[in-house]
Amino acid sequence: MNHHVKPMTLIKEIDYGTPSPEITDATKMVTLEIDGQEITVAEGTSIMNAAMQLGIQIPKLCATDSLDAWGSCRLCLCEIEGRRGTPASCTTPVAPGIKVTTQNPRLANIRRGVMELYISDHPLDCLTCGANGDCELQDMAGAVGLREVRYGYDGENHVFAKRADGQANDMFKPKDGSNPYFQFDPSKCIVCSRCVRACEEVQGTFALTIDGRGFASHVSAGMDEEFLASECVSCGACVQACPTATLIEKSVLDLGQPEHSVVTTCAYCGVGCSFKAEMRGEEVARMVPYKDGGANEGHSCVKGRFAFGYATHKERVLTPMIREKITDAWQVVSWDEAIDYAAKRLKETQAKYGKDSIGGITSSRTTNEEVYAVQRMVRAAFNTNNIDTCARVCHSPTGYGLKQTFGESAGTQDFKSVDKTDVILLVGANPTDAHPVFGSRMKKRLREGAKLIVVDPRRIELVRSPHVEAAYHLQLQPSTNVAIMNAIGHVIATENLIDRKFVKRRCEPTDFFRWEEFIKRPENSPEALEPITGVPAEQVREAARLYATGGNAAIYYGLGVTEHSQGSTMVMAMANIAMATGNIGREGVGVNPLRGQNNVQGSCDMGSFPHELPGYRHVSVPETRAVFEKEWNVKLAAEPGLRIPNMFDAASDGSFMGLFIQGEDIAQSDPNTHHVEHALSSMDIVIVQDLFLNETAAFAHVFLPGTSFLEKDGTFTNAERRINRVRKVMREKQGMPEWEVVSRIATAMGHPMRYNNAAEIMDEIARLTPTFEGVSFDRIDELGSIQWPCNEEHPTGTPVMHTEEFTRGKGRFMLTGFVPTAERSNRNFPLILTTGRILAHYNVGAQTRRTDNVAWHPEDILEIHSSDAELRGIKTGMKVSLASRVGATTLTAKISDRMPPGVVYTTFHHPVTGANVITTDNSDWATNCPEYKVTAVQVTVSNHPSEWQAEWQEREVENKRIGKEKKLEPAE
Ligand code: SF4
Ligand code: SF4
Ligand code: SF4
Ligand code: FES
Repeated sequence: MNHHVKPMTLIKEIDYGTPSPEITDATKMVTLEIDGQEITVAEGTSIMNAAMQLGIQIPKLCATDSLDAWGSCRLCLCEIEGRRGTPASCTTPVAPGIKVTTQNPRLANIRRGVMELYISDHPLDCLTCGANGDCELQDMAGAVGLREVRYGYDGENHVFAKRADGQANDMFKPKDGSNPYFQFDPSKCIVCSRCVRACEEVQGTFALTIDGRGFASHVSAGMDEEFLASECVSCGACVQACPTATLIEKSVLDLGQPEHSVVTTCAYCGVGCSFKAEMRGEEVARMVPYKDGGANEGHSCVKGRFAFGYATHKERVLTPMIREKITDAWQVVSWDEAIDYAAKRLKETQAKYGKDSIGGITSSRTTNEEVYAVQRMVRAAFNTNNIDTCARVCHSPTGYGLKQTFGESAGTQDFKSVDKTDVILLVGANPTDAHPVFGSRMKKRLREGAKLIVVDPRRIELVRSPHVEAAYHLQLQPSTNVAIMNAIGHVIATENLIDRKFVKRRCEPTDFFRWEEFIKRPENSPEALEPITGVPAEQVREAARLYATGGNAAIYYGLGVTEHSQGSTMVMAMANIAMATGNIGREGVGVNPLRGQNNVQGSCDMGSFPHELPGYRHVSVPETRAVFEKEWNVKLAAEPGLRIPNMFDAASDGSFMGLFIQGEDIAQSDPNTHHVEHALSSMDIVIVQDLFLNETAAFAHVFLPGTSFLEKDGTFTNAERRINRVRKVMREKQGMPEWEVVSRIATAMGHPMRYNNAAEIMDEIARLTPTFEGVSFDRIDELGSIQWPCNEEHPTGTPVMHTEEFTRGKGRFMLTGFVPTAERSNRNFPLILTTGRILAHYNVGAQTRRTDNVAWHPEDILEIHSSDAELRGIKTGMKVSLASRVGATTLTAKISDRMPPGVVYTTFHHPVTGANVITTDNSDWATNCPEYKVTAVQVTVSNHPSEWQAEWQEREVENKRIGKEKKLEPAE
């Protein structure tokens, strides 16, 4: 069977009209008759949905199965034997024994009348309309047999700018094209309110309303604002819900209606949304979220839905290039030449400096199969364990912390689990910006009444927005996470809130008692820690009580937890309180990292760490090595290799001289840019595999052009351990899959590595990795997606982990003493800078800045508290200088009370900002994850440089002279 491309050609998914109720063991089933056919469905199902299950399509306009029934268009009427009138089938639930008629002359007549009214106020430009071929209004006109429209446009209408008498038509509203990705043409609107409901129910933004009454009613993005200026976050839910061409993607207007589609996975964040790439030939007409997508269930955010243009951006490099020295010009070569050259120089470097003088870095942006290929090349062809991943700089503490306590380096729940949560403890994460589709899901649960505790130095949107409000916002000082979590643990332990039955049954007793004794100590009390955290003790106590006693409680966290010197400690502190309160091992609870990049989970699973083979198994265990040695026919090194920072140190020392870098701009995203640049320029051979000539490529000798996600065949694993298929929708623009390039280099170096397709790589992973045992492309195609572990015991995967026992057997409480960070504010750098993301952009913006997402957030903004601003004479809109111990940059300031005094905040989507300031030598004690979230800084009005700034500038000149690695710092 050819696994290579498995297009799913469907364009339209079945629309059942109304949501289908969840069926559980407790669900009552109802049997009824529709048009003479008997059917049994779950109680609460609408007649419309039940009819659709029989294949009977009742005409409809205002109903769609992603939204609750509304009942406004009156097209879906039916008759029920023995009942009067013609009820709407979308709002009428099934009942036992009823007999429904969906079609007869009377119903047909009423429907035609309804349609006639709609059409009489609708432009009849179907042939030239962008939705031609995808318009439900057109379909319904056909379905009800509309043959004539008796009313003209002489009276009131929304179609023409001028009335028949030549006067201006007040009802008419012009097109709004302000959003870069979709157009709003009110003349085509049938006021079905699907868009308004989608924005409320699915996205949770409430940007749209129906203004006016009766005939004058119309859709408005708030006070008749343009879409771009409104609250709209451009998720696309309204566009998807709109049955007409009123809301339509500009790409469809440009390219025409798609003719086939392929289901694939978004390549941006760790939510891992499934999309139908709707195609015209090899061009993407639009990306539409896939209703059966396990992670997103038909929802999307602006990035996955619209920001795919970077994949075909003109700056992409499509030919391999080589050069002798980094000062030489690039030379375009054939694939064969580039591969041979890379292999030759890697071997030369090993011959000169030893086997362990080279290594590789994998990327969390690429597929599991591509990552696996790189780690195999490094371990088997380079014969060293010098392999690490960029996950080192974001979620390595998650892996460490959860492995220590639960025995598995991954989040415990699926996203759906949040629907059963009563208390959400959200720590150092901003899901509405960074994980928007999960953020919408969380908001929905909060609107249903779940309680929220936010632990964050910044008042994120979820703390207070029109429809969601947190019960507690523990606004702690940056870097005091562990202190606050210990204080919460202290309250749980001293106020008798421990779930002793759970702890006794599921956890190691000795470790628990040790923890209990430790956490109960007075120094861990909220009162003792208040001066450190800045959070009133009583608030901490109340939040702790809510977490422990409010029903199902779940922890969700992000980089605000991990990117700290105590990142691993904090992960363990959260695992401790989850175990202490029995909030683990079932739906609605758990400890869940929100992963930044699309395949962070997968790249870690695939054996990207220097000490672990795929499946998190230590390289020092002979039995584990033996499995791989047999498959690969090579003897493997038993000692862990170098981590990224050690690679750089060794490069500066002259002992690490060759590096293969897969899809990762380390010169830009790693801490201490100068150090990284020095290390890279010290090496004999640097190979970069990427889409664009990034900053790192400036130090490379070989550039191997990469493929975008639209050209890849493989899998990504999201934050819920869900393995999703990435399917190729167009040929590789540079001519070769990335895994093949890697395999060829390995082969040229003497380790034969041959795969016919990506499916074979997954088969190898499954053979060698117990948690992936049951995974194959065929199996994923069959099930849609699979959450690992997937093996004999769990043949369809594992949505919720640790249900009966922990992966490590008994859960292990760990001691989590609070140690303040070494990064302190002082006289010269009196403020603490913390960072985050904004919805429209992604990381350093290499992709999103190459799309129309630049319409939002054209620059990084520095948020500063009014008291800090006043002290410095700073006003919103002013250019300010932001300086840390290692550099300075200029930003526009915005006065904001989202942070406490003493803390400033910015996003780092524009490379120059981050590289110049966020530089830290501090890192997580266990995993070396850099402490990006805490940097001591000073902020000044930029055209009035202060004394120390002048001094810093002088020193910078001196630094340049004496060499970047021996940096001078301004005197304290
Ligand atoms: S794009 Fe999303 S946020 Fe914007 S109006 Fe539509 S549904 Fe609301
Ligand atoms: S814009 Fe579309 S979805 Fe919204 S009310 Fe008009 S026709 Fe319905
Ligand atoms: S939430 Fe994440 S995975 Fe989903 S569409 Fe947005 S960026 Fe893509
Ligand atoms: S589809 Fe039922 S009333 Fe509109």
